[in-house]
Amino acid sequence: MARVKTAVLISGRGSNMAALIAAAAAPGFPAEIALVIANKAGAGGLALAAEAGIRTAVVESRPFGKDRAAFEAVLQAELEAAGIELVCLAGFMRVLTPAFVERWQGRMLNIHPALLPAFPGLDTHERALDAGVKIHGCTVHLVVPEVDSGPILAQAAVPVLPNDTPDTLAARVLAQEHVIYPAALARLARDLASGGADPAPSDPARPEAGQPAAAQALVVPAP
Ligand code: GRF
Repeated sequence: MARVKTAVLISGRGSNMAALIAAAAAPGFPAEIALVIANKAGAGGLALAAEAGIRTAVVESRPFGKDRAAFEAVLQAELEAAGIELVCLAGFMRVLTPAFVERWQGRMLNIHPALLPAFPGLDTHERALDAGVKIHGCTVHLVVPEVDSGPILAQAAVPVLPNDTPDTLAARVLAQEHVIYPAALARLARDLASGGADPAPSDPARPEAGQPAAAQALVVPAP
């Protein structure tokens, strides 16, 4: 089966991007990471992508100012030139217009560092600690025009420990982001490649060989 051509959009260090690239290198993974686009020339993830042999592009958003549509026209041209079928936002710090989001409806994913619908927006770990929640986590969802909303494809929950700081909590959550994002991408790519049939429900209790993450976190669906 042809692998689904996927682009990853980043603004920064690109650890989720790197997790997607690593997962997609496995034989049989249903998506190919064919392009990484950063909206900042200094995004650290660009070097990681280039090292992995992935085509990269920079479309600086800053020069476009408030003209989001003009920025997105260039972005769209890059995606089309590479024959991209699926887009993963991975720390992409730019709000997209409804028109762009609708163009990629059902084919654009995002990862958010909280258990949506709790804590949309920024500073999620600090806000989770302030709220005193005992469980925190991350979410992969389909992108819809409203920011940090849309159908949830996967979540992982981690405990909040008594001495956590935003940084220690962020690190625990990030480790799970790197588990659920590739799993959610694989599921959606497989679904798209097979004509859009609903993926079979997975058993969250299924023990996963070689997945130590499952022992430290509740991951749904199990990767
Ligand atoms: C991640 O925590 C992701 O959930 C959020 O932005 C951060 C990006 O980190 N959207 P990285 O660039 O993938 O390392």
